[in-house]
Amino acid sequence: MNLATLVFASVAAVTTIALDNGLMKTPPMGWLAWERYRCNVDCENDPKNCISENLFIDMADRLYEDGWKELGYNYVNIDDCWTLRERDQQGRLQADPKRFPGGIKRLADYMHNRGLKLGIYGDMGTYTCMGYPGTPVEKIQVDALTFAEWEVDMLKYDGCYSNDTDQALGYPLMAKALNNTGRPIGYSCSWPAYQGGLPPKVNYTQLGEICNLWRNYGDIQDSWSSVLMIIDWVFTNQDVLTPAAGPGKWNDPDMLIIGDFGLSLDQSRSQMALWAIMAAPLFMSTDLRTISGEARTILQNKMIISIDQDVLGIQGRRILKEKSNIEVYWRPLSNNASALVFFSRRTDMPYRYKTSLSKLNYTTGTYKVHDVFTDKTDVLMDSTVFEVAVNPTGVVMWYLSAPAKPQSLHFLRGGKRHGAAYDPEENGIPQGFL
Ligand SMILES: *[C@@H]1O[C@H](CO)[C@@H](O)[C@H](O)[C@H]1NC(C)=O
Ligand SMILES: *[C@@H]1O[C@H](CO)[C@@H](O)[C@H](O)[C@H]1NC(C)=O
Ligand SMILES: *[C@@H]1O[C@H](CO)[C@@H](O)[C@H](O)[C@H]1NC(C)=O
Ligand SMILES: *[C@@H]1O[C@H](CO)[C@@H](O)[C@H](O)[C@H]1NC(C)=O
Ligand SMILES: *[C@@H]1O[C@H](CO)[C@@H](O)[C@H](O)[C@H]1NC(C)=O
Repeated sequence: MNLATLVFASVAAVTTIALDNGLMKTPPMGWLAWERYRCNVDCENDPKNCISENLFIDMADRLYEDGWKELGYNYVNIDDCWTLRERDQQGRLQADPKRFPGGIKRLADYMHNRGLKLGIYGDMGTYTCMGYPGTPVEKIQVDALTFAEWEVDMLKYDGCYSNDTDQALGYPLMAKALNNTGRPIGYSCSWPAYQGGLPPKVNYTQLGEICNLWRNYGDIQDSWSSVLMIIDWVFTNQDVLTPAAGPGKWNDPDMLIIGDFGLSLDQSRSQMALWAIMAAPLFMSTDLRTISGEARTILQNKMIISIDQDVLGIQGRRILKEKSNIEVYWRPLSNNASALVFFSRRTDMPYRYKTSLSKLNYTTGTYKVHDVFTDKTDVLMDSTVFEVAVNPTGVVMWYLSAPAKPQSLHFLRGGKRHGAAYDPEENGIPQGFL
């Protein structure tokens, strides 16, 4: 049997099996090197910021000591440029010993001793995007085994230097190979990003069966225009993308760049808010050693993290695009709660947007509203007209409780209602918040 037949036989077997590694029932969270640190391998001149075990250890220490881990940020993920240019004599990938003197296994141990996880990077083609050895079809078996032996917890499998045919073979084969190692390894597929992200070229049913998350669009860059392009692409295609997501299978709009150089505070809040609406994996790519207090406050916002991590795993949608350049986004949450984001594309000044929950198709009832950035709360009936002031390129984000049952104990006196018209018990923030 030649290689092609062998490969096709395995693929036919795998495409009917759902990815069932038990991982990532909520979107994964952590830190990923690429956007901030790229392929900086110049450890001689830039020892603090080069792709090396020191960088990953530093970030692990920050996650562990600065309260990130408790909030769910537990993956520390290597991206491209970690290997030597050559495989070893047994044909295995090898970390550059100058930059990773302890090797990947020891780095994984370091993470596991702190309750963290280690992610690694490979590429389905002949080379990685930066020209390091790839993991083409014939290397999938050996590399999956190597990663498992090192006790790696997640693989990002990129697609540079591969073609459509190889991708259609390789991505399912890697899922199978990872499963065969017996080690649960979260699997991030870049496949749809190389196929334009949309059907008919992309089959989201299949992706959900073989990958835990997938990149469907271009790489994020350190700029607001890049964030906007991603937002536009995702929500323009929400009818395709929203049904693809769910527990264990997520659309990945790429890393959070909050804390870097390209976003204002309002834009940072917008990225965090809309990533949570998207049920996006939350991988920060920033220097956690020097991050500002303001950026940290946004990234550590418990309520937004809880919205992102909602157990129903339903990806949210854009529900309104107003002529005023205000947009409204909505995500249904467990316990009949929901999240709303009011987003401004304006460039003038804070815009006072007036609406009501019934205009946003909320069912009749009384809702407790929690502004996730100001922590202010309010109680609104569906018919109440309210106003939110949304800054240019900024957001207002709300968590809304389930509609309250009417209070049976309120009483009338002189034709006026006294006592709360809603039952405060029913309006509590549901458990599940951090
Ligand atoms: C491999 O797949 C089987 C069948 O879907 C599943 O029961 C098992 O948990 C998987 N194992 C790993 C390590 O992913
Ligand atoms: C895809 O690439 C492989 C080598 O990686 C090659 O053998 C194959 O012919 C290519 N297929 C197409 C359709 O270009
Ligand atoms: C998409 O993948 C699913 C599951 O692998 C398969 O059943 C279905 O036929 C595929 N759809 C198309 C249009 O190829
Ligand atoms: C959610 O609302 C539906 C319909 O109003 C109701 O039947 C259900 O009990 C509610 N669930 C929770 C968890 O409150
Ligand atoms: C509300 O529902 C109506 C009827 O289904 C629909 O046309 C409208 O677009 C919805 N509005 C919002 C904001 O979802």
